[in-house]
Amino acid sequence: MCQYASTNGLANDWHLTHWTNLLNSGAGLVMLEATAVEAEGRISPGCLGLWSDDTEAALANALPQAPGDVRVAIQLGHAGRKASSAKPWDGGALLDMAEGGWPTSGPSALPHLPTETPPHELTETDLDRIEAAFVCAAQRAAKLGIDVVEMHAAHGYLLHQFLSPLSNQRTDAWGGSFDGRTAYPTRIFKAMRRVFDGPLGVRVSATDGAPKKPAAGPRS
Ligand SMILES: Cc1cc2nc3c(=O)[nH]c(=O)nc-3n(C[C@H](O)[C@H](O)[C@H](O)COP(=O)(O)O)c2cc1C
Repeated sequence: MCQYASTNGLANDWHLTHWTNLLNSGAGLVMLEATAVEAEGRISPGCLGLWSDDTEAALANALPQAPGDVRVAIQLGHAGRKASSAKPWDGGALLDMAEGGWPTSGPSALPHLPTETPPHELTETDLDRIEAAFVCAAQRAAKLGIDVVEMHAAHGYLLHQFLSPLSNQRTDAWGGSFDGRTAYPTRIFKAMRRVFDGPLGVRVSATDGAPKKPAAGPRS
């Protein structure tokens, strides 16, 4: 679970203590919190990252050796239009630049809430950059000796934003039909599969959590 305890994506003594507890809890697999593959992809300024030599070194320092047969997993993600948000106990709202926020991006220029600044619609160049960031983070995870990687495609974050027709209204190859909307998350998964030998999973939300549209009327 997101700890919101990092600065600049760096793991620290909070994580060391937290992970030590979990690794000695009797669980067979311990999943590290949603970890951003680039700084812009953090949900909040307090989120953990794995996008640079510094964030990799901090994670290496804070992650204790797993005891016995315990395996370690990491969830890699990008928050997309839900990035740049206040920590939950500070209200969770989108932060503007003056509050320490940053510009957000998503499949389409549609905000999560109607009152929010719309995200920048990702270009092909952006999609290439984010793919490379997922690949690089998976490689860093392998280097750290992490056994399992989970691709975060749930909870309204970037890859879920591609999956959902509510947030993905692209008319190019990355939107439209089910095949179109699944194409970018599939591309990221395949790219990570090429560089990460261990088990690779995906977290998806079974629902968008949106209210049902009222029925159009009685069926004839
Ligand atoms: C503080 C907090 C942090 C969370 N962090 C993550 C996370 O990093 N990755 C993730 O997939 N889910 C995360 N979740 C969602 C939980 O994994 C879980 O899906 C949610 O709490 C609902 O589970 P429940 O129905 O068993 O209560 C987080 C939830 C909370 C409350």
